[in-house]
Amino acid sequence: MPRIIVALVLCLAVAVQADFPDDPKPCKYGDTECMVKFCNKLITDKATEGDASLNLVQLDPMTVDKMVLRQGANGSPVSIDLTFTDNKLYGNKDVRFKKMRGFGKEIATKHEMVMSSKVFSLVGNYSIKGQILVLPISGSGYSNMTMIGADVKISFTGKPVERNGEIYMEASDLKYYLKPKSQHYYFSNLFNGDKTLGDTMNTFLNENGAAIFSETKETIENAFAALYEPLMTRVFSKYPYAKYFAAEEEGS
Ligand SMILES: *[C@@H]1O[C@H](CO)[C@@H](O)[C@H](O)[C@H]1NC(C)=O
Ligand SMILES: *[C@@H]1O[C@H](CO)[C@@H](O)[C@H](O)[C@H]1NC(C)=O
Repeated sequence: MPRIIVALVLCLAVAVQADFPDDPKPCKYGDTECMVKFCNKLITDKATEGDASLNLVQLDPMTVDKMVLRQGANGSPVSIDLTFTDNKLYGNKDVRFKKMRGFGKEIATKHEMVMSSKVFSLVGNYSIKGQILVLPISGSGYSNMTMIGADVKISFTGKPVERNGEIYMEASDLKYYLKPKSQHYYFSNLFNGDKTLGDTMNTFLNENGAAIFSETKETIENAFAALYEPLMTRVFSKYPYAKYFAAEEEGS
């Protein structure tokens, strides 16, 4: 092979390896203890800026163009049509991984990440219409929905996908579980800006935060799952699946 091509190929190989964050070293298949440490380092270092070498978007704040929480009057005391637009989600940088499962050689299996967070705040514009417990609610403006001290679990089924002869992983059937210790809601400009009604409603929402959360938990979790599934797939679309793991030792 002409020298220049050899040099180019070598150079490319080195570039690919050098791009991949190697401090701490990527882990072996299924070494979830190592992965917990790796993910914590990654999120601490990269949450606020993202990481192109891993196709990781900026996670804190994370852009949420649109999130719809809609639940009908199927017997639930909360029936709302709530749309957040141009929101930012703050708090991912303080997420800590606790435990992981899966991420072994087998792609088509369940993979799981157990985490805890300090504070999540979803902040931006909203519009709402519906009924919460016994009260009608309507308005549009600026909102801040905050969850304190949440336990979080993300699980998904890996889907092997072949591209150019290499096997990549996509995330499918992603589930997001959220269990906050407490929550705070703030909606500006409720009821066309009627201050008395708006203040009363915000107080009411916060006094009944736990009940309202448990009624809307599934809807919120589904909305978050829809947010994180493409993100997970993106992270694993950068390289063939095997490249995310340290090479197996010869003969082992
Ligand atoms: C939020 O809504 C306000 C009032 O309608 C608007 O002026 C503002 O541009 C919106 N913000 C974003 C980020 O879209
Ligand atoms: C959202 O509300 C929380 C809790 O009330 C507060 O700590 C946080 O600063 C607010 N975030 C923004 C961007 O206003």
